[in-house]
Amino acid sequence: MSLDLAVLVSGSGSNLQAILDAIEAGRLDARVRLVVSNVAGVKALDRAARASVPTLVVPHKDYPNRAAFDAHLVEVLRPVVADGFVVLAGFMRILTATFLDAFPRRVLNIHPSLLPAFPGVDAQQQALDKGVRITGCSVHLVDAGTDTGPILAQAAVPVLDGDTRDTLAARILEQEHAILPAVLQWISEGRMQLVDGRPRFSGVVPALGLAR
Ligand code: GAR
Repeated sequence: MSLDLAVLVSGSGSNLQAILDAIEAGRLDARVRLVVSNVAGVKALDRAARASVPTLVVPHKDYPNRAAFDAHLVEVLRPVVADGFVVLAGFMRILTATFLDAFPRRVLNIHPSLLPAFPGVDAQQQALDKGVRITGCSVHLVDAGTDTGPILAQAAVPVLDGDTRDTLAARILEQEHAILPAVLQWISEGRMQLVDGRPRFSGVVPALGLAR
């Protein structure tokens, strides 16, 4: 059965585009029912509109606190993804229990590091500052911590001499665009189960190669 998705964004939306492209190409059996941005005018909204996906802007600044913002998001998203998943694709707000309790184990995030390394903001710069030679990206289920939920898939990316934050971010994004739709397809196929709080995939899971 096709997976219903709501995608939350704050910026460029290249991960949203990767999801839309995978659906279009028949690699992902899902439907993006709604794209919500907490920031008006971002490129992600144009990408959604171009794919005829409904969009909504919910500016967090219009709400007195995180719980009120999250309660409104729940109201908007619940009818749209009754049985589906919420994907945080470059969504730069921390969600509270108000939101997470409404979609238990059904909120996914893509993060630009090999978690548990470099959680939080600007993971790419954090990796450069530490001088690691390998970093990458992670798809994980969202829990109450910052980028601490169960990891579903990761891809490794080398840090090259002379990398800037932007060259490294671009190399990581290429891998994000591969692993996020892949994980969603596994979920769509009913291959993900949680065993003792840890994700297990049944059947043959295609290997996600290391970055060149
Ligand atoms: C991506 O690199 C994503 O992993 C990161 O923001 C970028 C969004 O790009 N997310 C986080 O840092 C969340 N903590 P996109 O808007 O082009 O998909």
